[in-house]
Amino acid sequence: MKISDKVESMQFSPIRRFNPMGFKAEADGKKVYHLNIGQPDVETPSVFMDAIREYDKKVIAYAESGGINDLRDAVVDYFKGYDIDFGRDDIMVTTGGSEALNMTFLTILNEGDEVLIAEPFYTNYHTFITAAGGKVVPITTKAEEGYHYAKRDQIEACITPKTKAIVCINPGNPTGTVLTLDEMKLIGEIAKEHDLWIIADEVYREFVYDDRKLASFGMLPEFADRVVIIDSVSKRYSACGARIGFAISKNQDFCQGLMKIAQGRLCVSTVDQVGSAALFRLPKSYYDEVKAEYNGRRDVVYEELMKIPGVVCQKPGGAFYLTAKLPVDDVEDFLVFLLTEFEDNGETVMFAPAAGFYATPGLGKDEMRIAYVLNKEDMRRGTELIKLGIEAYNKKLGK
Ligand SMILES: Cc1ncc(COP(=O)(O)O)c(C=O)c1O
Repeated sequence: MKISDKVESMQFSPIRRFNPMGFKAEADGKKVYHLNIGQPDVETPSVFMDAIREYDKKVIAYAESGGINDLRDAVVDYFKGYDIDFGRDDIMVTTGGSEALNMTFLTILNEGDEVLIAEPFYTNYHTFITAAGGKVVPITTKAEEGYHYAKRDQIEACITPKTKAIVCINPGNPTGTVLTLDEMKLIGEIAKEHDLWIIADEVYREFVYDDRKLASFGMLPEFADRVVIIDSVSKRYSACGARIGFAISKNQDFCQGLMKIAQGRLCVSTVDQVGSAALFRLPKSYYDEVKAEYNGRRDVVYEELMKIPGVVCQKPGGAFYLTAKLPVDDVEDFLVFLLTEFEDNGETVMFAPAAGFYATPGLGKDEMRIAYVLNKEDMRRGTELIKLGIEAYNKKLGK
């Protein structure tokens, strides 16, 4: 018996693939700084647990397939705070942004349809698009250009009669690249001319730094009928384990199609929805505090990275990731060295090799992704360990 060709063609997560080596290094007594995974250390706001404690139902019943009204209404109000107009029925509650993506691609793709996405990209897109019978078509970007992709020529060169959608992860994972509202308009116009869906993954929406302004495809009503916004409580509220996300669209055909799949999976955890409704009612000052924390961490990591001769990277504008070119030929081999041979005062570091974030074979071999999800002191030390590791690794290779 064989498993499907679709699943055969999928890869294991490049973010988690090196975990066994990291755990082994820890079991051997080393301290490992985990810069490989986007699990923030910021505390989940206490209103989440408070709301669950106050939930006094005698039976944890199924919720409505689209989500509980209290949560959907809280999301409507949250968007109103940014002058974005969504109604309760535009919002589908899902098990994390991950299920929103899974269900969205099942709803819009036919077998063989192509989906454009700037590479490097959040690797699970490959899984979601392939599972829905689609094909990833990468728009290749470069470290030297800050991984920018909002270029008409480059996007249009990737469009074929089979192209069905363009994905915009904004702010970007793994690059931290941010689109301006004008760049979103350009992508919207291209999508309109070629009749494409826009999958706007905005799970890091608030995390934009320096003079960048929060921008959402929800702010562009002229493209509303082709936009699906993917959202989540995981990153914004540091509540990754709550598994609450959203697929949001004004396109009623899409919403009804999505509902067929949603009814098939019955509903999302009732209790987590109750806690999440409280999160969406937090004041805006909450986002300012969290954003300031990540902003500071980004500055520390960038400053430390710039001390390493040969590193290529622009300061990322958003999210909590940074992808950079390292002065080593094979970043995976370097990571294995860090976890199995290297230490400095009993400490070493882990990051995610970037090759797994590319769809084009051979790209990203000399790049790594860092998630700046630890406090500033740990981020500084983790980045310093990368520097010391590169020196030791290149010395070992006789360079
Ligand atoms: C860009 C992006 N989209 C979606 C997700 C899915 O998140 P979740 O399923 O936890 O909501 C992630 C998680 O890291 C992400 O980085």
